[in-house]
Amino acid sequence: MSELQAVPQMDLAAQYAAIGGEVRDVVTQVLASQQFVLGREGAALECEIAKLCGVKHGVAVASGTDSLILALRTVGVAAGDEVILPPFTFVATASAVSALGAKPVFADIDRETFNIRPDEITRRITPRTRAILVVHLYGLAADMHPIRAIAKRHGIPIVEDNAQAIGASYQGTPTGALGDVACLSFYPTKNLGAYGDGGMIVTNSAEMDTRLRTLRNHGQASRYNSLEPGWNSRLDEIQAAILRVKLRYLRPWERARRAHAGEYSELLASLKSIHPPVTPEGYEHVFHQYTIRASRRNELQKFLISQKIGNAVYYPVPLHLQPIYQSLGHALGSFPESERAAEEVLSLPMFPELRTEQIHRVASAITEFYSR
Ligand SMILES: Cc1ncc(COP(=O)(O)O)c(C=O)c1O
Repeated sequence: MSELQAVPQMDLAAQYAAIGGEVRDVVTQVLASQQFVLGREGAALECEIAKLCGVKHGVAVASGTDSLILALRTVGVAAGDEVILPPFTFVATASAVSALGAKPVFADIDRETFNIRPDEITRRITPRTRAILVVHLYGLAADMHPIRAIAKRHGIPIVEDNAQAIGASYQGTPTGALGDVACLSFYPTKNLGAYGDGGMIVTNSAEMDTRLRTLRNHGQASRYNSLEPGWNSRLDEIQAAILRVKLRYLRPWERARRAHAGEYSELLASLKSIHPPVTPEGYEHVFHQYTIRASRRNELQKFLISQKIGNAVYYPVPLHLQPIYQSLGHALGSFPESERAAEEVLSLPMFPELRTEQIHRVASAITEFYSR
């Protein structure tokens, strides 16, 4: 029998093989400039990303987590406040709330889209609710029309955790322009990933833009003129320059991801035991992950590993069941859809350079598993 070719869940080396020359050129230029923080690359990237998101301002920071903490702080979240968010997300979404001394108030997700449900938000609002923090999970926007209507009715700002959905859109509006302020992560595995950590906050508000620029730089409005306690959260010039190279490829990479998703969904359509991801009418999915729901998920996962097919479970434990939030008093059954998703989801290999024969191999392995 011939040796099985491994199919990775993601492959950054393939991307580097394609763009490495350009990346090395810009890194060399930054080194020659000897300007490493708050320079022209960062400023240019802020304008380019703001434009992509359809808003006026971008403020580059050191990570997606920092972007969440700073955005929440800028909309007024402080100790004792409540912030509504889904429990089916990466822990950083909630721990940013905790970092400000505020309380994460979880609201369950929709079975089809994996995103926060508007009716769940409504029932969690109290006089202490200071923000609604939506997550556009896996590259698909949350259902923002009803969420915006709720936020408007109650006068509560919306913060978007857009770490996974840069480039996506909802009814013609890009993610990043669907709330009051939005947060991006440039963690290396993201659709637009740096070669290290990075993040950005985008907004239409000039006031928030000014405050964020101050907060990310020790609260300084100008040198040695600090207005309030801030800290150091700046994106360095090398990362900004690399991100600017990669940004030029973001749309073609997105199209490749969508084409791969289409192929997977076609090949898997006849299998009763799995549900491919949905893209509701009017949404543009960017497939940061191609995530199926699978019966006997853990067994399927083991089988795929035995076939050298990479895969991942994002996320195996919803936040209300992790030790960090034990003190909130939730239990199994508190958020049934999030718990169900944690048991059923499986993210298949997905990256722009994925080849058709690799997609076929993954689909055949899944078909084989369920026909045994
Ligand atoms: C949904 C979500 N929120 C927040 C983050 C935190 O971003 P970072 O790792 O850049 O701090 C991530 C990614 O890691 C994420 O996937």
